[in-house]
Amino acid sequence: MWTDAIEDAIAKTLQNIDRFGEKFPHVSRNGTYELNDNNDWTDGFWSGMLWLSYEYSGDERFRQAAEATVASFHKRLRDHVVLDHHDIGFLYSLSSKAQWIVTRDESARQLTLQAADVLMKRWREPGGYIQAWGRKEDAKEAGRIIIDCLLNLPLLYWASEQTGDPAYREAAVLQAEKSRRFLVRGDDSSYHTFFFNPETGEPIGGATHQGYSNGSTWTRGQAWGVYGFALSYRYTKNPLFLESAKRLARYFLEHLPEDHVAYWDFNAPVQEGTYRDSSASAIVAAGLLELLSHLEDQDSDRAYFQEMLLKSMTSLVERYATIGEEDAEGLLKHGSYYVHGGVSPDDYMIWGDYFYLEALMRMEKGITGYWHERV
Ligand code: GLY
Repeated sequence: MWTDAIEDAIAKTLQNIDRFGEKFPHVSRNGTYELNDNNDWTDGFWSGMLWLSYEYSGDERFRQAAEATVASFHKRLRDHVVLDHHDIGFLYSLSSKAQWIVTRDESARQLTLQAADVLMKRWREPGGYIQAWGRKEDAKEAGRIIIDCLLNLPLLYWASEQTGDPAYREAAVLQAEKSRRFLVRGDDSSYHTFFFNPETGEPIGGATHQGYSNGSTWTRGQAWGVYGFALSYRYTKNPLFLESAKRLARYFLEHLPEDHVAYWDFNAPVQEGTYRDSSASAIVAAGLLELLSHLEDQDSDRAYFQEMLLKSMTSLVERYATIGEEDAEGLLKHGSYYVHGGVSPDDYMIWGDYFYLEALMRMEKGITGYWHERV
């Protein structure tokens, strides 16, 4: 089943190289991907899909297309195009870092290190955190962290590994600790965002941006937490990060509906037509694979996570994937971007497609994505 799903995904990705040309897919409207000129937070995912497809197939068309995206990311960094946000980690881990991991191209490694330097400029004192969005002078955003940032931290951990400079890693560790303390709640659910007073660093309180309400648990935020803490554990071996990944994963999995794919927010009232977020489940599937790679055989959580991974992935493949729909642009239906904002509440999300493919590749071929060096 996994091989068929991968073959279908690779065929669609190949078709999309021609469809998308030099542009980058973001989210769909009515089944058609909105494209941009490499100026959104999501543009690394397309690059990552091309690198995964190249690694799986060895087909040079994927490699050429992937390298063209990295050339575009060179220009983006040079011209500082829409980089006043923390998602530099998403952008450059899956594009230039992927190229470095796959081909050992030195200029790709250098570009990735420069991207890590740009991300470091978002470090804020006295609060001691990475500002999520906007410029330093933006009073509304200066005190905000968000849980999604945990997936940006691997870029910093990696930069310390590569350069021997501990500063990147120290920032990443402090951000992960801060996220654990302020974004994760006592019952293992999570806030999407948390505000600090930027002048004093004092904590103010949790809030949401894309979730149902300030105190609710936005499922994709919880998903970023699962994978992000597992990755922070990989780089630091701090058992508290492993514990957080496990606890957030359990919360996510225990609150799934019968078909094992998440609604868009765990607190959204469930009624006919409540939106799903298949992308959250795809992120958690990839995150569970990372988590499982750190659990001992005798770990009492292992069997549960393994079982739930298979249930979720089976449901994604059988009920949400576009397998057999030859003209479909996306791989996973029923993702939601920003339900209350009215933006693509039931569509393809390019990150949903990426994490679905990453999870399949990891299960079937041991290809682990581009968040860390291969071991
Ligand atoms: N990182 C933004 C999102 O998940 O929508």
